[in-house]
Amino acid sequence: MKTLVIIAHPNLEESNINRILASRLETKTDVTIHKLYEVYPDGNIDVEYEQALLLKYDRIVFQFPFYWYSSPSLLKEWQDKVLTYGWAYGSEGNALHGKEFMIATSTGGPETAYQAGGFNHFSMSELLKPFHATANLTGMRFLPIFTVQGVFRLTEEEISEQADAYVQHVVAAY
Ligand SMILES: Cc1cc2nc3c(=O)[nH]c(=O)nc-3n(C[C@H](O)[C@H](O)[C@H](O)COP(=O)(O)O)c2cc1C
Repeated sequence: MKTLVIIAHPNLEESNINRILASRLETKTDVTIHKLYEVYPDGNIDVEYEQALLLKYDRIVFQFPFYWYSSPSLLKEWQDKVLTYGWAYGSEGNALHGKEFMIATSTGGPETAYQAGGFNHFSMSELLKPFHATANLTGMRFLPIFTVQGVFRLTEEEISEQADAYVQHVVAAY
């Protein structure tokens, strides 16, 4: 099982959570980390390179800090450019069929804020539906999501525990 983790964080150097999640994953030999904002600081995505890269992996993970109930903008740009008709979807667009797809995201809001009647009213599963629908359309199996929530209140020890849990989550069989 070869896994590609596409990280979309506009400033990973100053990140508290995603930087540690990513560095813990880097110890895994069958996991490749691809930092979108570092590779494309000008936002100009190399579509052919990205499509060729995706073909090499069985499991694709999008990892990002939750921004405005979604991902940072470069990941949306990546989807708009890379997931083309006839390649990722459409009657002959089967390049991603049979792959597995996972979302890993961190939120400022705590878990209790993401539920009916909570501060944000909707669950993470509900808010991540566009990614789930994208996986469906492109023939990828949507795996259980990984979330780190209430990030501003986590101790260093708790962040470290979450990073360990993340590595397990990314490499687990589903
Ligand atoms: C532009 C922006 C938008 C954000 N939107 C949300 C949001 O919709 N919901 C939420 O819970 N946290 C939100 N946050 C908080 C981030 O999710 C939080 O800073 C991030 O998960 C921390 O990860 P990091 O330490 O890797 O940067 C937002 C932060 C920024 C900068």
